Amino acid sequence: MSARRLAALCLAAGCASEPAAPAGDSLRGAFPPVPVPADNPMTPAKVELGRLLFHDPILSADRQVACVTCHGQIWGLSDGLPVSVGVGGVGPAGTGRRGPNVTRRNASTLWNVAWRPALFWDGRASSLEEQALGPMRDPRELGRPPDDVAADLARIPAYGRLFADAFPGEAPAVSARNLVRALAAFQRTLVSTWAPYDRYTAGDRGALGAQAVRGLNLFQILRCTACHAPPSFDRTVYEPSFSPGTPGAPSDDGRAEVTGRPEDRGRFLVPTLRNVGETGPYFHDGAVASLADAVSLEASHRPGARPLTPAERDDLTAFLREGMTDLHRLPERPDAVPSGLMVPLDGYRIPR
Ligand code: HEC
Ligand code: HEC
Repeated sequence: MSARRLAALCLAAGCASEPAAPAGDSLRGAFPPVPVPADNPMTPAKVELGRLLFHDPILSADRQVACVTCHGQIWGLSDGLPVSVGVGGVGPAGTGRRGPNVTRRNASTLWNVAWRPALFWDGRASSLEEQALGPMRDPRELGRPPDDVAADLARIPAYGRLFADAFPGEAPAVSARNLVRALAAFQRTLVSTWAPYDRYTAGDRGALGAQAVRGLNLFQILRCTACHAPPSFDRTVYEPSFSPGTPGAPSDDGRAEVTGRPEDRGRFLVPTLRNVGETGPYFHDGAVASLADAVSLEASHRPGARPLTPAERDDLTAFLREGMTDLHRLPERPDAVPSGLMVPLDGYRIPR
């Protein structure tokens, strides 16, 4: 076994003694091909239809909110808010948005969602096709029955053509089922697999700065990899939360709400750390604004870790911010959508 191969295995297993030498392709290559369900193959026409639907507020009760309102390009495919503001809200997408209908949890990033076998912070959905119905029906998010949306879409000639291209031979092509299939196909293109970390482990020693390399070493030594496992930096396990919480927030039993088991109370799915520098605020309740604070909290509580010195905290944060960021597959925001409604305006993000 070559030294590079050994280092890769070592990082995957989280062993502490091995320095973070360039680790060969095996880690990066460990991203399997994007899984695509047999009954919903990806085609360019379907992905493009999904992209338009993702940005089209026709999906919402007030015709002002779209998926992109809470999963926006400049907000790490989330929205920069602790919890999201759905229909009836005012202000552009992002940190300035306010309104009466707020979600209970922080909007998950959609980066690499294609590979996640369990969705939502409590894992209650298991496919993107199934998932998309959730926000449409939820009165705090889009709040419109999918069949109503489909009936409206069928009356718009441009959508009729786009659905016919995406679902050839199906009659009717415009349906709630095909709407969620197109959204799912689009979301499977939101991949982030070529960050500086990936280039570094593929042998490009210049891809990470010295501070980020120290952070990468700490990430292994402190066994962060036990849950945030490469290459996806997440895992389908439910673990306790150490979020300090938000005063007055509604209670959240996490995984126990799905299983009904008391031992799952307060446990949440391990989130990905890909593009984590972009996706704040952090944790299922969005209670922590800064990445450095989230890192400190995690290190103080997780098995195998320990409280950090300020320098260690900064190194670890630098690794996550610098090493995990890859935005080159960000989807393009359409200027216009076939409904003729306005694509939700985006707010302004203060450059970090
Ligand atoms: C009002 C804000 C809002 C809107 C609009 C919205 N979402 Fe979300 N989204 C959220 C929140 C909040 C969560 C996390 C909810 C939870 O875990 O209980 C989430 C979670 C998700 C997830 C799960 C990701 C994961 O890794 O677990 C997917 C996929 C998703 N949304 C896709 C969509 C799609 C597609 C649309 C449009 C049909 C949409 N969302 C509209 C706020 C929103
Ligand atoms: C035992 C599993 C486990 C270990 C080990 C672990 N984490 Fe986590 N991590 C989680 C879970 C679960 C969450 C979500 C908690 C929540 O939402 O309240 C999380 C959340 C995070 C977040 C916030 C991500 C987001 O998008 O909200 C960061 C940053 C983070 N962890 C970093 C680390 C670091 C750094 C280490 C090592 C010191 C580490 N974690 C070790 C399970 C783990």
